Amino acid sequence: MKSLIVANWKCNPATLKDGQGIFREIKGKMGLVKSEVVICPPFVYLPVIGKGLVLGAQDAFWEKAGAYTGEISPAMLRDMGCRYVIVGHSERRRVFRETDEMANKKVRAALAEKINPILCIDRLSQLKAGIKGLNSKDLKSLIVAFEPLSAIGTGRPYPAGKAQKMYWGIRKIIGKDARILYGGSVNSGNASSYVKEAGFQGLLVGGASLKPREFIGIIKEIS
Ligand code: PGA
Repeated sequence: MKSLIVANWKCNPATLKDGQGIFREIKGKMGLVKSEVVICPPFVYLPVIGKGLVLGAQDAFWEKAGAYTGEISPAMLRDMGCRYVIVGHSERRRVFRETDEMANKKVRAALAEKINPILCIDRLSQLKAGIKGLNSKDLKSLIVAFEPLSAIGTGRPYPAGKAQKMYWGIRKIIGKDARILYGGSVNSGNASSYVKEAGFQGLLVGGASLKPREFIGIIKEIS
């Protein structure tokens, strides 16, 4: 199976022009890369960021439409060509007080629109709560990202050996089908330890995904 590498741009960059520049550079350097690469820019850039790379969103609401000022639904994301959506990122949980229950609603809403949810967790209790009500077919479309809090945006990557233990804990709960990613201070120097040594099926990359050369370095490292 191809590795999955997801770029989480977070609330960056500040202008569309810069975003298009990063997108173009990544696309231009992809060459014969075999991994599946997904770019998750801020919502407003989605329809105009560029063509030729798979797109994902960084969040989604759980209702399809209605009186929910400021929210974006999975149906809208699908209409904009998104195939993936990040759900329950630790920054959403911390800054916006999102709960496990909300993450679960978002996972189910994404699946209902045939968008692959990327459920972010840093402990197994979040995984169990996040997948409540999913059936075995749903689990085939689910992606779980293990993102240890201590490693996110800190430049302190989690030891691959410890991450591998968590990998097996997650695998035991979700079964054989769902893909499991590692995220947290990934760079071109440590990427292969998570994929080739610890056995993750891919990576969720934050800071390094805004630096095209570094991001391509990560992709090549694990391809
Ligand atoms: P980082 O972020 O790669 O900058 O640590 C990862 C993430 O938040 O998904």
